Amino acid sequence: MSLEAVMYAVNVRREGNTLVTLDQTLLPNVTEYLNLTTAEEMWEAIYSLRVRGAPAIGIFAGYAMAILAKQIPAPDFDTFYQDCTRLSDYLNSSRPTAVNLSCMLRRMDAVVQANKDKAHEELLAALDVEAKAIHDEDIAMCRKISEYGLSLLKDGDGVITHCNAGPIATSRYGTAQGPFYLSKEAGMNIHVYVDETRPLLQGARLTSYELTKAGVPCTLICDNMASLVMKQGKVQAVFFGCDRIARNGDVANKIGSSGLAIIANHYGIPVYSLGPSTTIDFNCPTGEQIPIEERPHSEIKELFYEKPMALPEVQCYNPAFDVTDHSLLAGIVTEQGIAYPPFSESFAKLFPEEMKNV
Ligand code: MRU
Repeated sequence: MSLEAVMYAVNVRREGNTLVTLDQTLLPNVTEYLNLTTAEEMWEAIYSLRVRGAPAIGIFAGYAMAILAKQIPAPDFDTFYQDCTRLSDYLNSSRPTAVNLSCMLRRMDAVVQANKDKAHEELLAALDVEAKAIHDEDIAMCRKISEYGLSLLKDGDGVITHCNAGPIATSRYGTAQGPFYLSKEAGMNIHVYVDETRPLLQGARLTSYELTKAGVPCTLICDNMASLVMKQGKVQAVFFGCDRIARNGDVANKIGSSGLAIIANHYGIPVYSLGPSTTIDFNCPTGEQIPIEERPHSEIKELFYEKPMALPEVQCYNPAFDVTDHSLLAGIVTEQGIAYPPFSESFAKLFPEEMKNV
């Protein structure tokens, strides 16, 4: 696989009335696409992380609603709208933390309402257009984020990343990983340290896979090795993605991100979160209000092991995300530019309309 093949990978796409998505749970060993047509299959694909990464879930949700809307009987608008809302709420219940899911479902809902008085076929066509627009916008946003992110790096830098924010988690380029591909394209020498990302191993299974296939130099480490790697001077920046950003700059991302940021601050290494502005929840004042998904204990004790690695009666706690306090971040990289602290001020400059409306 070439750099271009990885950067331009399309992992969520629509083929007629089927939603096609790469089953990310099978990587790196098996590349298999799923053909989904029912709401239950789509819900399961999000819940089980077959499709994952905040932007990819948003894109997936847009196509899902466009496809499912065609299956709803529509004797009149109100009956149709009730069923649409039920399906949208159902998909939204699959994962609570990444705001892109609810944000894109709301966008699709707004299209339904705006086309209330049109012929039903026209309404369905408008949903198709919106779903495609969500996808296209994400591609453009990822490109800009990657360019801004690259401007923070210099030749020879080492960067540590957590979880997976590459093309697999978006549509193209990725967010936090995008700068690494562009650095390769530009002939720069950037070395990426990839946290394996316990417990679901997105770093090991997905990020190191994507970077290796693209020929970007990378080294896989266990999450608890980050401090040593930083102390040894191998890392000049931390780049990770985001699932929801509060108005004050607090960032929810994969569990472990906050700890990584605390360690990096100890060593004076700048920490950047990279993501599209659709991940900023302008209605959310601080990280305190961000819902944190909890997942099954089997992910800690059993998954990826040949035999369970803890007694059945051992209690576990498995939060899937944590919130990095805004005070730990050197910047938040969006497609509109890089927001620097204080974030409420820089967000007001970059996103005047959104900040005015809260
Ligand atoms: O649980 P996941 O794998 O969906 O978590 C994903 C992350 O935390 C990513 O960093 C985030 O969604 C950004 S993806 C561009």
